[in-house]
Amino acid sequence: MSDSRETLTAFVVGHPIHHSRSPMIHTHWLRGFGIAGEYRAIDVAPEQFGTFFSDLRTSKKFRGGNVTIPHKEVACKLADRPDELAQELGAANTLWVTDGLVHATNTDGYGFVANLDQRAPGWSKADKAVILGAGGASRAVIQAVRDRKIGEIHVVNRTVERARELADRFGSCVHAHEMGALREVMSGAGLFINTTSLGMDGQESIAIDFTGMQDEATVTDIVYVPLKTPMLKEAERQGKTTVDGLGMLLNQAVPGFEKWFGKRPAVDEQLRQLVISDM
Ligand code: ATR
Repeated sequence: MSDSRETLTAFVVGHPIHHSRSPMIHTHWLRGFGIAGEYRAIDVAPEQFGTFFSDLRTSKKFRGGNVTIPHKEVACKLADRPDELAQELGAANTLWVTDGLVHATNTDGYGFVANLDQRAPGWSKADKAVILGAGGASRAVIQAVRDRKIGEIHVVNRTVERARELADRFGSCVHAHEMGALREVMSGAGLFINTTSLGMDGQESIAIDFTGMQDEATVTDIVYVPLKTPMLKEAERQGKTTVDGLGMLLNQAVPGFEKWFGKRPAVDEQLRQLVISDM
């Protein structure tokens, strides 16, 4: 084996990248397993991403890495072996290199579902889910929720055409609605998911009435700064089970680590507290 093979190195590439928590997460796992590896944040501007990607195939410097905003769509297009899921979502967040070929997948949906499985185990008994937002994050979430056989998925979005596109793409279990229909759509739902940036620090928040939902409904947010968004606080006040978005971030990192470093890491309270302490 060559030297370059022995250096286990992975990356997260984005622009900007300084805010990324991924180095902290992967470094924690590397230390825990005693693996002599490295996980680096790399800032690559969009115009340089093609070159970065070509170098990946040939340099043998990296086992693979994560891709974040704004490169997820391009990474999926450039990958030599995007898996079915990445192709379906049109976006990749995890890459690995074998024999000069770049493979790609998308672990956002896995992270979303794994977080709910950990923190609100009965969530998938819901017959009806309401999803706010129709962007890239929403797409990954819809895919994952649909795979867990939730019967009805209702997508509510400011720009209703985007919700309709998703309904067309995902088939008859997905329904599109305008924002004005939110209150009505919430009736009898067992799961509500915010996939927009509303409620994030520095962004406006959204007031939602959860009273029409089932008593044992779960409300979750993909936002994790702040950990408890105004929306989650309100849902909690209305007696719902709430799940913050931090666990999605932590869990989406698991499959990549396993591919690059050969061990399946745990998303535990120690890791959660480590990331919270840096927020
Ligand atoms: P991502 O890939 O992170 O999901 P995106 O594709 O830009 O990002 O999607 C952002 C989502 O948040 C969209 O559903 C967007 O609504 P529009 O499709 O109408 O743009 C939603 N969103 C962002 N800001 C919003 C706001 N102030 N009010 C309502 N929805 C908002």
